Amino acid sequence: MQIVRGIEEFKRAREALDGSVGFVPTMGALHHGHLSLIKSSKKENDYTVVSIFVNPMQFLPGEDFDAYPRREEADCRICEIAGVDILFLPESSSIYKKDEVKLKAPGYLGYILEGSRRPGHFDGVLQIVMKLFGLVRPSRAYFGKKDAQQLALIRKMVDDFFLPVEIVAEETVREDDGLALSSRNVYLSTEERKRALSISRALKSASRLIMAGELESEKIKKRMYEIMKDIDIEYIQIVDRDFRPLRKVAIRNTIILVAARVGKTRLIDNLWV
Ligand code: PAJ
Repeated sequence: MQIVRGIEEFKRAREALDGSVGFVPTMGALHHGHLSLIKSSKKENDYTVVSIFVNPMQFLPGEDFDAYPRREEADCRICEIAGVDILFLPESSSIYKKDEVKLKAPGYLGYILEGSRRPGHFDGVLQIVMKLFGLVRPSRAYFGKKDAQQLALIRKMVDDFFLPVEIVAEETVREDDGLALSSRNVYLSTEERKRALSISRALKSASRLIMAGELESEKIKKRMYEIMKDIDIEYIQIVDRDFRPLRKVAIRNTIILVAARVGKTRLIDNLWV
């Protein structure tokens, strides 16, 4: 595995790859969710590039940019074992320029739900992903369904800018008890982690209700609010694949989205119906 930090060095390493390139962009503190993306990329491409960059532009003032877990050594080992070809660890100073061209997330999809709680967050996500796509020139890029709105926005950017990359979405990887893996789970105390389980329990119960024939969004949400009563719910929203709110669940065209705070930790999770 090549570990590359400089932009010019990366361009040279990329130039030497002859074949399809799968790309997994991350912010590090790698877990099995990231690994599942890497595994799919390995399976479907000649080469796999992983980037680790805690992107300052997607954190709002007062968010956890400084506290975000940084585990470079462990992450390198994980990538090495997973068979990654190039691990790209760029510096912020070489990625961002002064007064540069800026991408702006669309007014609806970029500013509802996560975007309304974190205004500007998705502008920063699109900015970094566009830059990384320009450098990596991937045939396929891998993203988790856990960050459903991010995934939808990246698909939209690729579509709107006619980018020659295939976006591949992977299922959310969970702990045995249901908690969706996240680099931010390390912030949870034992007691908070227990309470956080109500998020996946609420989603599971929504899934059971739907299988039993209950399609009314309000009824499903009510049950979810009850299950999550001990944590600080930011939103529960039932939307279609274009993120338009649904009064009734439409099978194969619905995502149930949850954001909640447990102590100081903000968690998101969802269910694709
Ligand atoms: P990060 O949170 O490190 O996530 C990197 C990728 O891993 C994303 O596509 C995310 O959806 C996926 N992922 C996270 N947890 C997952 C889980 N439990 N199961 C499956 N996939 C999971 O998302 C980002 O970084 C950044 O916003 C980034 C796209 C790298 C831009 O900075």
